[in-house]
Amino acid sequence: MDLSEWITKLPRSPEGHWGLGHLPIVRYVKQEIFDNTPAPTMMEIGLNNGTSASMWLFECKNIFCFQSIDIGIHSFVDTVATLLELKFPHQFKFKKMDSRDLLNPETKWPIYDLIFIDGGHKHDVCLSDLKFTSKHARYILLDDTGGNSPGVTSALKDPGCPKLKLLKEWRIGAGCRLYKNESTD
Ligand SMILES: C[S@@+](CC[C@H](N)C(=O)[O-])C[C@H]1O[C@@H](n2cnc3c(N)ncnc32)[C@H](O)[C@@H]1O
Repeated sequence: MDLSEWITKLPRSPEGHWGLGHLPIVRYVKQEIFDNTPAPTMMEIGLNNGTSASMWLFECKNIFCFQSIDIGIHSFVDTVATLLELKFPHQFKFKKMDSRDLLNPETKWPIYDLIFIDGGHKHDVCLSDLKFTSKHARYILLDDTGGNSPGVTSALKDPGCPKLKLLKEWRIGAGCRLYKNESTD
């Protein structure tokens, strides 16, 4: 089954259908980062109906570990996680928790090659995710940077927001930015 067919099997999210619009972003990251990284690892904050997780796992065959997190606003995340665990048993891992509780400085986490932040879009959640990722990711991909998510925009302007180097910005979908985290070099 290819990605387009797989996507049709996923539950439909009440927040809308994102389709495969992020594919150019996934392919860019694959070419520029993952293809040059042995056994790349990735975390995604915000599984929802699994559209983005599926894109990463179908497109980037060398992903060694894909850790997904979701608070579980929608009950279908459990079904989605099971589907992805069966399809990608070695790569896909899921934890259902609030990222603010799970990703705290007291918990031991590795440094991931990429963390994709697409979880809670309120100021404090996004800021907390950015603070965590600035200590645990080589690269950070932040969704919804196009201006339609006030919490994301204000988190980026918060004095407590870590300093990150902007590498690329996409205007597709709700907007997305790729940052290099120079503090984990
Ligand atoms: C925009 S959706 C993610 C879309 C998904 N990345 C995709 O493109 O297919 C946001 C998800 O973040 C989750 N979420 C919201 N607040 C969260 C939090 N504090 N911690 C973890 N996940 C959270 C929601 O349950 C929701 O499923």
